Amino acid sequence: MNGYESSQPAPLPRTLLSRLPHPVVQAPMAGGASTPALAAAVSSAGGLGFLAAGYRSAEALREEIALTRTLTDAPFGVNVFTPGRPDPHAAQAAARYRDELAGEAERYGVELPPVPDWDDDAYQDKLDVLAETGVQLVSFTFGCPDPDVVARLQSAGTEIAVTVTTPEEGVTALRAGADILVVQGPEAGGHRGSFEPLGVADTGPGLLELLPAVRKAVEEDGARMPMLASGGVMDGAGLAAVLAAGAAAAQLGTAFLAAHESGAHPLHKAALTDPRWTEHGAFGSSTTVTTAFSGRAARGLVNRFVAEHGAVAPPSCYPLVHHLVAPLRRAAAARQDPDGMALWAGTGHRLARAMSAGDLVELLVTELGEASDTPYRHRSAT
Ligand SMILES: Cc1cc2nc3c(=O)[nH]c(=O)nc-3n(C[C@H](O)[C@H](O)[C@H](O)COP(=O)(O)O)c2cc1C
Repeated sequence: MNGYESSQPAPLPRTLLSRLPHPVVQAPMAGGASTPALAAAVSSAGGLGFLAAGYRSAEALREEIALTRTLTDAPFGVNVFTPGRPDPHAAQAAARYRDELAGEAERYGVELPPVPDWDDDAYQDKLDVLAETGVQLVSFTFGCPDPDVVARLQSAGTEIAVTVTTPEEGVTALRAGADILVVQGPEAGGHRGSFEPLGVADTGPGLLELLPAVRKAVEEDGARMPMLASGGVMDGAGLAAVLAAGAAAAQLGTAFLAAHESGAHPLHKAALTDPRWTEHGAFGSSTTVTTAFSGRAARGLVNRFVAEHGAVAPPSCYPLVHHLVAPLRRAAAARQDPDGMALWAGTGHRLARAMSAGDLVELLVTELGEASDTPYRHRSAT
């Protein structure tokens, strides 16, 4: 090349995302929202549904995969938590937080369990199930799987996606052999998928800034990878924006949390659009990033629990704090008290629409068409 010729970028590798009828992916949502019915409805409508393996046993995951296969012939994905490392200081910090929660235990009539040991969420057993069942796509969050794990699942015919929150994490996932990057912006509901647990203030650039930054870093490392954009996408306009920013498809969580087939608690679904939840938040924002429920940064609606404990909750005690607080969350849900539940929600939650997941996929595609067709009008022309 003589320096004057422009180089043609390498073509984007073809993956399951390029074969989807619609660029709409339902985000995996551990904790009950991601039901087989939800995943199947989205996949059957031409998007891609996801099961969430987090907090499930390997056997329960196997059953969910089998059940989903009875509900749809279309491909779907499974999401797994990549285990981190035990933090030697975590047990002590979690024990202090346990003391802080004594009043909550009394309020909900629950005996808090002793601080549990660190665990890896049955990672190896779940990998075995995934290698045996050969689902079309497996995504990892909270860290990058080792290259041998990636290669093992790929040899079973599975494509691999890794959630990344920075350009550097994107390069790590590329070098590990992943096929797809789930680029998660700070707008996202639920846990941030960063490789190292972040503090609550470490939000970083928004999704529309992050997508081109990740793409550039990966290209500078010598490859192109399809990106799945995640965080704050609620409608066709949001979908159009992330596609314009270079994503191959969008992964929507909060939008599908409100769907009829979602297993989220009805109070959680209702809270997404209830004006009451705008009361607590700072600067008019109704969501915040908190470690109060799990010991890892996650975005949710600001309720009483977050307002009272968010400031003292330890930042890197996952999954210890998750297990410690779980009985309180269950008791609050049983009492129909949303102020003690983890109301995970992305920044766009007010735009959630309660409808069937298949109809939502269709509506998003219609809106995408409308958003893309909007004619540009110069000011002077009006
Ligand atoms: C209730 C809930 C649970 C979630 N659980 C998971 C999970 O198990 N694994 C995962 O990779 N991401 C999880 N996420 C994050 C989503 O994958 C996704 O990044 C996020 O929902 C996108 O932002 P949005 O909610 O604004 O659409 C969860 C999100 C929510 C709202």
